[in-house]
Amino acid sequence: MVILAIETSCDETAISLVEATGEFPHATYEVLGDAVLSQIEIHREYGGVFPAIAKREHAAALVPVLEKALTEAKLPPLPHAALFPETKEAVRALLSREYELADALLDFYERRNTPVIDRIAVTYGPGLEPALWVGINFAKALGTIWNIPVVGINHMEGHIFSSLFDGAHIADVTFPALALLISGGHTEIVCMRDWGSYELVGQTRDDAVGEAFDKVARMLALPYPGGPEISKLAEAERLAGRTADISFPRPMITSPDCDFSFSGIKTAVLYHVKDREISSEERASIAHAFEDAVTDVLVAKIRKAIDITGARTLILGGGVSANTHIRRSFSNFVATERPDLALFLPPAKLTTDNAVMIALAAYTKDSEKGPDLTARGNLSITGQ
Ligand code: KG4
Ligand code: ZN
Repeated sequence: MVILAIETSCDETAISLVEATGEFPHATYEVLGDAVLSQIEIHREYGGVFPAIAKREHAAALVPVLEKALTEAKLPPLPHAALFPETKEAVRALLSREYELADALLDFYERRNTPVIDRIAVTYGPGLEPALWVGINFAKALGTIWNIPVVGINHMEGHIFSSLFDGAHIADVTFPALALLISGGHTEIVCMRDWGSYELVGQTRDDAVGEAFDKVARMLALPYPGGPEISKLAEAERLAGRTADISFPRPMITSPDCDFSFSGIKTAVLYHVKDREISSEERASIAHAFEDAVTDVLVAKIRKAIDITGARTLILGGGVSANTHIRRSFSNFVATERPDLALFLPPAKLTTDNAVMIALAAYTKDSEKGPDLTARGNLSITGQ
């Protein structure tokens, strides 16, 4: 089965083509095409992602990104058939708020052969609703012109599959498994007792980890997105053998639950830098101390969650799992404290938002969500 997957939940426009053969979870996958266009440069000017701008950029990028993925995939073509006027009208109705995208898609259809694709998958949440909508409406319009079904996929479930993917297979997972999902909008610990079963064990009560990284970076006058910038500064400090000369609080680290709170660390940084010039040495030291505090809390809560659930597998996923210190800390934690636990970290290329993960998650679904598919900004991993 060839799946075309579309991801537009935040600031990357991504389309992938993945061929899956055999039955999940023992299927073999081939990534035929994978195109991502990042909007980071545009959002950097504003210091963050504005949903209306993200939506506009997705609308402009979708057809070029689709063409790039299709060109890479070299799928066998079906004979070209002219579209019925009703089909064109249906496409225009679906994309009535993005008429330029409707024009671009209809023009694309005239120019390109119809590829052999069996299913379209699209992220329907969680994420920025205007950005999700443009992806969903585009998926529906493509499904209409090609006459193929569209299935909605949870973005966070995609991040889990990213971490389990070795380029050709999904790893054998021993359940129960814990997934620590850390991104710009989410920080949660999820327990999987089987494929497709997700129970929320803990979550942030305020800021997501990535959000805290981005906000602290802004206080330190570092560009958006702040996570990688903080990481770079902190790693350089560690490489130079320096220890952080400040220490920030570790909120809720000893609380009996698996919930998190990161706004306290952020506020502590704010008070530390308030109303004064900070030197570049101090900035690096703050980045280092901030990363240490966040990582300590993440590891402590995972330790607790393993004790509660008896987990045999740990999966890290989401944009923040690109962080070198966090990855190293979890590898050390498993090696020294839980050597029987299987640890899965996403490969660098699939750490941030991409559409390969959406195609992988889609192959596990047999139910198809039809035209009533709607954007769900706050969609939970449990499907609620
Ligand atoms: O999963 P993702 O690409 O998008 C969302 O679904 O939110 O995550 C983006 C987040 C941003 O907050 C970004 O600053 C953070 O991931 N991030 C990092 C690193 N790379 C990306 N945070 C810390 N260290 C990094 N190396
Ligand atoms: Zn994400």
